[in-house]
Amino acid sequence: MSNKVIAGFSDSRHSILLAKNIAKLTKSPVNLILAKKFPDGETNLRFSSDVKGKTVYLMRPLKTADEDINNNMMKAIFAAQTAKDLGAARVILVAPYLAYMRQDKRFRPYEAISSRIMANLFSRCFDELITFDPHLHRYRSLSEIFTIKTKRLSADALLAEYIKKNYKNPIILGPDEESYQWARDIAKMIGCPVDVLKKHRYTAESVKIKIKDRLNLKNKSVAIVDDMVSTGHTMIEVIKDAKKLGARKVYCVCVHGLFVENAYEKMKRAGAREVVSTNTIANNAAKIDISKLLAESIIKE
Ligand code: R5P
Repeated sequence: MSNKVIAGFSDSRHSILLAKNIAKLTKSPVNLILAKKFPDGETNLRFSSDVKGKTVYLMRPLKTADEDINNNMMKAIFAAQTAKDLGAARVILVAPYLAYMRQDKRFRPYEAISSRIMANLFSRCFDELITFDPHLHRYRSLSEIFTIKTKRLSADALLAEYIKKNYKNPIILGPDEESYQWARDIAKMIGCPVDVLKKHRYTAESVKIKIKDRLNLKNKSVAIVDDMVSTGHTMIEVIKDAKKLGARKVYCVCVHGLFVENAYEKMKRAGAREVVSTNTIANNAAKIDISKLLAESIIKE
């Protein structure tokens, strides 16, 4: 019998769905963690069955609609400690979107480098971390900040497959230098042209993209790909510039669709014909499913 248990949290529909799906694909049992909030805001967690001697996979999306990231992190930590306390052999955090990775340096004096703090905390609380396309900009790999085993899965092939199937003769655009990693890989898989632009970010809400005038986008279909969309400002700048250069259809495709402050609607208004993401974060644009990839990786463990 499998030693693996797939745990979902009752407070998150996304967590429950993911747990059920992964449990089915990996042929492992589900253990629902009953997550309750006391009137004063304190959290109370309870596993619904025994985890003694098991390898527990905690399906904990960190960005959810009704709870903030910090609370979701806290619940993952509480659940891990409880599982250990109940005799679990190993506790693995499955966070399809890894929050805090963009805070990878002290941008202003006296500021916290939150990615390091998160990694430090997680390394103490879990035995392993599985995630998708973490934002690696100033770090080359997760092992620079984590001391536990980390598994970095990539949705690039799924994005490429979606673009190839749904958009005719696309040009792939990456909005900034960081995006070259995934933009080039995706274009290579599709067998189509690619260009990477230059971005300057002034604040979280203000970015300027430098598009090259020599870029011939006249009457072309453009697929802008990025690892994540948060406020959507990055994508919106590229959409506007691509349209100015005559692009006929502009599509936006990303791995992690955070879509904060009505980013999805704003991108559509700016002229995006379609906005698509994977389901590492639950949202209405999540048409690309990562479950199979995740399950395959868990089966191999
Ligand atoms: C950062 O460089 C990332 O790759 C994204 O381009 C960025 O996080 C998107 O943020 P926003 O949607 O707020 O512009």
